This record gives sequence, structure tokens and C-alpha cells, in this order.
Amino acid sequence: QTSSIVVIGSCSVDFTTFAPRLPMPGETLHGTKFMTSFGGKGANQCVASAKLGGNTYMIARAGDDQWGMKYKEYLKIVGVDVSHFYITPNASTGIAQITVADNGENQIVIVTGANNLLEISDVHTSAELIKNADVLIGQLETPFETTLAAFKLNKGVKLLNAAPGRSDIQKILPYCSILCVNEGEAALVSGMEVTMSNIVEVLTKLLHTGCETVIITLGEKGAVYLSSDQQPIHVPCKSVKPVDTTGAGDAFVGALATFLVERKDLPLHQIIGAACEVASTSVTKEGTQTSYPKKFDAFNKQYEFRKL
Ligand code: RIB
Ligand code: NA
Repeated sequence: QTSSIVVIGSCSVDFTTFAPRLPMPGETLHGTKFMTSFGGKGANQCVASAKLGGNTYMIARAGDDQWGMKYKEYLKIVGVDVSHFYITPNASTGIAQITVADNGENQIVIVTGANNLLEISDVHTSAELIKNADVLIGQLETPFETTLAAFKLNKGVKLLNAAPGRSDIQKILPYCSILCVNEGEAALVSGMEVTMSNIVEVLTKLLHTGCETVIITLGEKGAVYLSSDQQPIHVPCKSVKPVDTTGAGDAFVGALATFLVERKDLPLHQIIGAACEVASTSVTKEGTQTSYPKKFDAFNKQYEFRKL
């Protein structure tokens, strides 16, 4: 029986404009391109895994507008199990308005819509799937109490990507096997400023909140991590020319989950190195899910790592 990767979380439609730079407040800019695509952190992570060959399930809510059914059909085609993907009457599918600058940076405003209607009762409906998931992934674009209920139920690896960042998530941390955050999110959860010189302190503080492993992704600098009773480690990443960094964190999370179940034999630094490589591949192409790589052999090399 193949290991299951279950994502409980968001799916949104991304409306992306490309512009020379990000606009200033009150400013109107001429963009160069417009694109509509399937996004949302939860679905991005699920699709990242499915593309790498993960046996994926998506627990989510979309609206009964023109996007909901399209999203569901598309997920099915990509190979995601959508039997727990619900079209919600009288709701609109979540959307994200994204601006991507020439240097690859982005700015995002989300309106969660139907994502906000993913309720604890949905956890009960999907209880068996959630309980037995080998990896259960959650984010913070759907109601927190729902994710918490799901994490309490699961007997496998619980992977929380605390994005978008917020500071009031302490309650769920003791149920997390892995907490994965970027620098900004790490600052919010830890209440500390995050710099390369105090990153060990931040990792230690986050670990003491009750999770088993903390990973902080650092963009082009790779990632750092700390597990109980171990030394903090930095896994650097080869640099690429950024085209669109949107959803790179999601590519990392999806790849991490996939490699954790498929390559149980490998040390964590190898798995994180490979997940970083998936994320940096995604940064070299426009869009989120469309930029995620298909099954590739990320393990034909030894990733560099050093003790912090
Ligand atoms: O992490 C990237 C995602 O964040 C985008 O796809 C957008 O939907 C926003 O939710
Ligand atoms: Na991309």
C-alpha cells in the first residue's frame, strides 16, 4: 500500500499581473502580462507532491461559481484524489491577486471565500483519511480550529506550514511533527527578529513550543533546521535567476512531504536539500503549480550541509 499524503487547506484562483516592479501605495503601473492560474497554498503543496509522484488527497472547499468545478476537474487530471474536495453552495472560490516584479519578488492579497468555510465537521467527515494519512499537511489560509482538529486526529507525520504568517498559533504546535516557516513567519510565531546571526536562538525557541522539528526556509540561502536532541543544521541551495518566486515555499513543502515518505532511508539534510532544489526550480518559471517540476531524480547527489 502506497503512503498517503493528505492536504487539508486552501485552493484559490490566482490572478497574476507581471510588472517591472511592485507598485507604491496609490500608484498605477503598466504591467506587461496577465495570467489566471490555479493556486492557493494548500492546493499548491498538494500538486507539488502529486507532480513528484506523491499519492495525494486534497480536503478543501471551493465555491459553486465558475472556478470551483474547474478546479476540481483539474486536480483530478493532475492525479490528486478529490473525493474530499467540496463545492460549497452560495460561496465564491478563494482568489489571490498577485503582482510579480521583474526581479521575481511578489505581493499578494487573498480573499479566502469558500476556504473560510472548511469546518471541523469536514474533519469529522474525512476522519478516516485524516487519521491514517502518512503525512498530513496544513497551512493558515483555512480556519485554524479546523486544522487543529485534523492535526489532533492524525497518527502520522503532521507538517504545518504556518503561512500566511500569524502569531497566535501556539495551540497547534505541540501536535506538529514538523513546523515549516519562512523568515517572516518564523518572526511572527517566535516573537523574535530573525537574522542569520540569531537563527539558532529562533530555531531553539520554536522547538520549545512543542513541535519535533523546525525548518526555516531562507529563499536563495536554502534552509535551516533543528530537531530535538540534535544540532542545528544549515542546508544551502544553489542560486538561480529568479523569474517568479510565488509558491516556491509551497513547492518546498510538497516536495518535503513526498520525499519524507518515499525516501525514509535518507537523512533529513538530504531530503531538505532535494526539496530546496524543487523550490528553486519553480522559481525559474512563471506561475506556481505550472512551474513545479515533474518527477525527477533529486537524489543522485549529496547535498551540502553544515552545523550552525
Ligand atoms: O503561496 C503562494 C500562494 O499564496 C498563491 O498561489 C496564492 O493563491 C496565495 O494564496
Ligand atoms: Na514559479
